[in-house]
Order: sequence, then structure tokens, then C-alpha cells
Amino acid sequence: MTNTIQQHISLKTYNTFGIEVFCKDFIKIADESQLPSLFKEGHFSRKFFVLGGGSNVLFTKDYTGLVIQMSNKGITHFIEGNFIYITAKAGEVWNDFVWYCVEHNFGGVENMALIPGTVGASPIQNIGAYGTELMDVFYSCQAFDTTTGEFTTFRNNDCEFTYRDSIFKSKYKGRFIITSVTYKLHLHHKINTSYGAINMELQKRGISSPTIRDIAEVVSHIRVEKLPDPSTIGNAGSFFKNPIIPTKVFDKLQKIYPDIIFYTIDENHVKLAAGWMIESCGWKGKIDGNVAIWKNQALVITNLGNASGSEIHLTSSKIMNDVYKKFGIKLEREVNIL
Ligand code: FAD
Ligand code: EPU
Repeated sequence: MTNTIQQHISLKTYNTFGIEVFCKDFIKIADESQLPSLFKEGHFSRKFFVLGGGSNVLFTKDYTGLVIQMSNKGITHFIEGNFIYITAKAGEVWNDFVWYCVEHNFGGVENMALIPGTVGASPIQNIGAYGTELMDVFYSCQAFDTTTGEFTTFRNNDCEFTYRDSIFKSKYKGRFIITSVTYKLHLHHKINTSYGAINMELQKRGISSPTIRDIAEVVSHIRVEKLPDPSTIGNAGSFFKNPIIPTKVFDKLQKIYPDIIFYTIDENHVKLAAGWMIESCGWKGKIDGNVAIWKNQALVITNLGNASGSEIHLTSSKIMNDVYKKFGIKLEREVNIL
């Protein structure tokens, strides 16, 4: 396949914030075999950025390098013993992959239904929702090393997955292009209804023994109720991570704010609900110029239509300042800022 590089392309439809910026050069990768030739042509010795669905990025200015958009497709699976191994190409839409599993009655990813974005991005921040994380089902991925021009394989243990983090966001940031991911699901999957909102919705629907499909439908419903649809309201989901703090610090905070929402991680760490803290600072539903904080979920920053990436970034800094002043907690952005 030949490499067609386009110049001066608008990225407005390539990021879910809907920010109008331009990149100098742009290429769609429909087949991973294009990558070694791009390497030989010297494109990885200059500035480049790998883009999936653009649902976790904020462009604050034009991009002066090459944007590589992953759109290779294909899903296959085989069953061995008690396990199903499913390989999906990086450019597959994550939710299409989830529904491939649901249709085959393969359990394990249904709690992550309707997360926007691509399969290739799923390991980058170890996506997670409603009681399941990618690391629970990730077996391996194939990745192209942009420093050597070789393909390599990462197994689960190689990826240093933690909450909203992996080796691809830290030590190897920007180095590897993930070309496919293999997930390992159990044939005798146990349905996970540990997340309170799932149970409440199942009860409402009168479902006592939910199927894999029930969970995917319920989770999709909860998400639609709570989160803005990026096809009509520009956003990138949670703008911040939920902070993980030492239990000792938390104990002091809880004395001042007895209602603070938290989850125990281990005996020394607690995760705080950043959305609750942002709401407590008065930001939920607030409008700041062309930017608004989502009315149903204070972790989500939205573009009212004409916001620039810098305006959104500025609003996020104001939120971070207010949360720090009130709670002494430094929020960290989840969204990748460019
Ligand atoms: P992009 O935004 O295109 O890229 C994100 C990062 O991954 C960038 O650093 C990019 O360089 C890198 N990247 C992308 N593809 C590749 C590749 N093939 N190889 C190497 N690097 C790559 N996230 C959650 O975890 N849980 C949620 O519940 C959730 N809900 C969301 C709800 C909404 C409404 C929105 C808009 C976003 C939500 N997100 C959530 C965030 C987002 O869906 C995930 O981060 C998703 O994995 C991003 O996928 P993407 O393809 O759009 O990645
Ligand atoms: N809360 C508030 N006010 C708010 C938002 C939340 O008080 O404005 C409270 C809720 O009432 C609840 C708690 O905070 O008690 C947690 O809220 P929610 O269940 O909505 O989850 P979250 O912690 O805000 C995380 C993820 C989401 C993921 C959901 C469901 C992060 C940063 N965010 O949100 O992921 O979908 O849990 O599992 O971990 C994303 O990463 O983009 C994302 C949307």
C-alpha cells in the first residue's frame, strides 16, 4: 500500500472536542504494512503524533508535524481451553469490538461498552469503566517501534498498567504505535455488577440474572444519561483523573469534609471522586466563556461550540486552582494536551 501524505488538514472532525486546528501533514494508516515504509522514508525522525478517534486529546494549537491516524480494521478470535483470544486491529472502534464480543456471547468487556475511541488507544491509558479495566482482559499487543522500524509484542506484564496509566503513557510515551491488541476472555465469564449504578438500573428493569448483553445495554444507557454525546457536544470524557492519595492525608480531609466521596484502594491509599470535589467548588454546570462544565458530571468539560483548545485548557487550570485551594489536592489532567 502506498503512503499518501496530505498537507494542511483540518483536525476538527478528528477530535471529539471539535477543535478547529490544522496539521502540517496527515496520513491515514489503513494497513500496518505502511509503517515500515514510512520509517524508511524518514517520517519518524521528525515530529509526529499518533491519533485514534481523538476522544482523549485537546489540541491547543496547530500541529506542526505529521499526524498518523490509525484506521486498520479486522477482528478475529480463537478458543483454546477455557479462554477466548480475540485480536482486533488498532483502528477498530472500541465499541464495535465490545459488540463483537456481546454478539458472540463472550464476556469480559461489556462493562466498558460505549467508551469512545479505538482499540489501539485502549491500552494507552488502560481505559476503564463500571468496575472493569482494560488490564483485566488485555493479553498482548503488537506495536511498531518508531525508533528501530521493527514490530514487537508487549504482554500484559510488560505494560505496567495502573489506573489510567501504562508504559505507553510514561517511559515509552510517543515511541510505539500499537497496531493490534489481543484480549483474553474467560469462556465461563462471571458477570460483574459491583458498580452501584449498574445494580440500580438492573433493578429498575426487573432483571435479576443479567446476561452479557443486559450489562452492555445497561452500561450504555447509564453513559448516555450521564455523559454528553461528543457528536453533538464537544468533550473528551473525564478531563481529570480521580486522585489517589495516602490514607493519612485522606483521614484529615474527611474530618473537614465528612461527605467526601472516596474508594479504598489498599490500606495506605484512597481514591477521591474528583467530580465531587469540582462540584463542591461550584463548577458543575458553570459556563466560562465558550466552555461549560457538564451539568450531570463535573469531571467533563465541554465546548459550547466555538471554544479554542487554549480556552478549554485555561478553564481546566481555573478548576485545578479552585480544587487545590479548597482541598489541597492537585488534580491531574487525564486528557492529552497538544
Ligand atoms: P486518541 O484520543 O486519538 O488518543 C489518545 C492517546 O492515545 C494519544 O496519546 C495518542 O497518541 C495515543 N494513541 C491512540 N492510538 C494509538 C495507537 N494505535 N498507538 C499508539 N498510541 C495511540 N476513557 C475511559 O478510560 N473510560 C471512560 O469511561 C471514558 N469515557 C469517555 C466518554 C466520553 C464521552 C469521551 C469523549 C471519552 C471518554 N474516555 C473514557 C476517554 C477515551 O474514550 C479513551 O481515552 C480512549 O481510549 C481514547 O481513544 P482514541 O482512539 O480516541 O484515542
Ligand atoms: N460525583 C459528584 N459530582 C459530579 C460527578 C460525580 O458528586 O459532578 C460523584 C458521584 O455521585 C459518584 C462519584 O462521584 O458518587 C463517582 O462518579 P461516577 O460514577 O460518575 O464516576 P467518576 O469517578 O466521576 C469514573 C471515570 C469515568 C468512568 C466512570 C464509570 C475517571 C477519571 N473517570 O468517573 O471515565 O466512565 O468512572 O466507571 O476515572 C473517562 O475516563 O473519560 C471517563 C468518563
